[in-house]
Amino acid sequence: MKTALIIYWSKTGNTEKVANAIKQGLEEASIQVTIKKPEEAEALDYFDYDLVCVGCPSYSWHPPEPVTNFLKKKFAEYRQNGKIKPSAPKVPGKNAIVFVTYSGPHTGIDEATPVGKDIRQYFEHIGFNVIDEWYVLSEFHGSLEHSTLGRLGDVRGKPTAEQLQVVKDDSRRIGKLL
Ligand SMILES: Cc1cc2nc3c(=O)[nH]c(=O)nc-3n(C[C@H](O)[C@H](O)[C@H](O)COP(=O)(O)O)c2cc1C
Repeated sequence: MKTALIIYWSKTGNTEKVANAIKQGLEEASIQVTIKKPEEAEALDYFDYDLVCVGCPSYSWHPPEPVTNFLKKKFAEYRQNGKIKPSAPKVPGKNAIVFVTYSGPHTGIDEATPVGKDIRQYFEHIGFNVIDEWYVLSEFHGSLEHSTLGRLGDVRGKPTAEQLQVVKDDSRRIGKLL
């Protein structure tokens, strides 16, 4: 049985919804899924899974600090174990997906892509094949201004059931290809 690890951080629930949609899609493809918060995942080894999915919101176009701290800690561990090699050779069968939720109130998706690119590097450096980066437009809970007057318009109620269905369908398709 193929296995997947989903690690996500979520303050107001948007990223959690996406993480759960990924889990459902992968399970529909008969993947065995473990889902954890960063603080619960420190002792886990990415290399024990066929697919690792990491997700968080964009905070000032960066990953939130607890996510960066987690990724750096794991990275230091892999460096010590000799897993960070020059030219970052691909490790067969090891895959990752990065997912980011964002509201884009000022400059749109450009506030989210740096987050995805940043997280992606932690996986490419250890030889994982990063299958995709997913950016999911979401409500800015707690700020009506940022939810309605931003560059991407009215984002209230996002991610919608339709957005989550797309995530689920894509996850199922990827799960079947693992
Ligand atoms: C402190 C803070 C900073 C944020 N900064 C950005 C940002 O720079 N760009 C953006 O698109 N959204 C930003 N957002 C909105 C969140 O990324 C977005 O609402 C996200 O979906 C929240 O995820 P969560 O519900 O999983 O916590 C910010 C939200 C907070 C609370």
